[in-house]
Amino acid sequence: MPAITNVDDLKRIYRRRAPKMFYDYAESGSWTEQTFRENTSDFDKLYLRQRVAVDMSGRSTKSQMIGQDVSMPVALAPVGLTGMQSADGEIKAARAAEKFGVPYTLSTMSICSIEDVAENTTKPFWLQVYTLKDDDFMQRLFDRAKAAKCSAAVITVDLQLMGQRHKDIKNGLSAPPKLTLASVANMATKVQWGLGMLGTKRRFFGNIVGHAKGVSDPSSLTTWTAEAFDQALDWDRIREFRKMWDGPLIIKGIMDPRDAVEACNVGADAIVVSNHGGRQLDGALSSIRALPAILDAVGDKIEVHLDSGIRSGQDVLKALAMGAKSTYIGRAYIYGLGAMGEAGVTKTLEMIHKELDVSMGLCGRRNVADLDRDILMIPKGFEGDWV
Ligand code: GLV
Repeated sequence: MPAITNVDDLKRIYRRRAPKMFYDYAESGSWTEQTFRENTSDFDKLYLRQRVAVDMSGRSTKSQMIGQDVSMPVALAPVGLTGMQSADGEIKAARAAEKFGVPYTLSTMSICSIEDVAENTTKPFWLQVYTLKDDDFMQRLFDRAKAAKCSAAVITVDLQLMGQRHKDIKNGLSAPPKLTLASVANMATKVQWGLGMLGTKRRFFGNIVGHAKGVSDPSSLTTWTAEAFDQALDWDRIREFRKMWDGPLIIKGIMDPRDAVEACNVGADAIVVSNHGGRQLDGALSSIRALPAILDAVGDKIEVHLDSGIRSGQDVLKALAMGAKSTYIGRAYIYGLGAMGEAGVTKTLEMIHKELDVSMGLCGRRNVADLDRDILMIPKGFEGDWV
């Protein structure tokens, strides 16, 4: 096999190895996918400023996220159904993250449960929390996170309703996959994936099945989000969650300065500027273009993180230089996981780290904590001049 040198190499292998249904789930945005595309293409519009003959030795990518030490400011984002991309995928990703020294965020919509991940890791991870109507479920979810020693809760606030991803409907996405002619024919060609799945019992939504009441088809993401999620969510309700969880709190899915101010008022430790990887409101701005207005509104009051569109260390560098304190990768590590399991996630982290470290040096900087807009060439109008 030729050397794997970048995240796209992993994506190609992932595409061959994972069932189409799960590859499509990860690699989709909602509706026309405009926001999904622009999340990445807007990073290409920002240029890095090369500097020469400045001391580039002794660089460091070490930083902190909500006061926790990280080897680089790149956490693993919550990704639903990770354990369908590779058997026990959440455990594999969490292990890779802990060895690398970056946070792993377990999705509520994971296959491995909170307890599965806690039993198979040695360091605290973060739990992403969806806001369901069922109070008992919510309280128990936070209690389970506490019992598992999770070191942050990441409440996702941008999925009261689910954006439509056409391919998920066409593929009949579910976990475990429903056995249709098309899905069986496709899965039969994914030998390594199939052997892994035969070797694990974890094939259901581990945080939901047996925990959430009144869901008619817990194998279908769309069914249970439609039935169980709280469409009436408001900031008062989020304040109730703040009372249920007294640990570090991150609010994810902020795209508007007014919402950023509300998140500060709830007493969160950080917000994540995110459009859910372009999977929710299609036609929304990319997260990197939404970032400056949010920093203007709350940047001195709360830690501002960013996800959506990051596929390389250069993207991380640009986001940090624009003013984000930290970033998250989702698809980039799923490519690694689906290609090579835990080793693939490690590979993604290594490549992104190297890209970040070397590019930072070539910009004449030695420390991720000291980055600023001076290393960027930002096109006029990048932030938008909206009426
Ligand atoms: C769930 O979070 C999804 O985006 O599918």
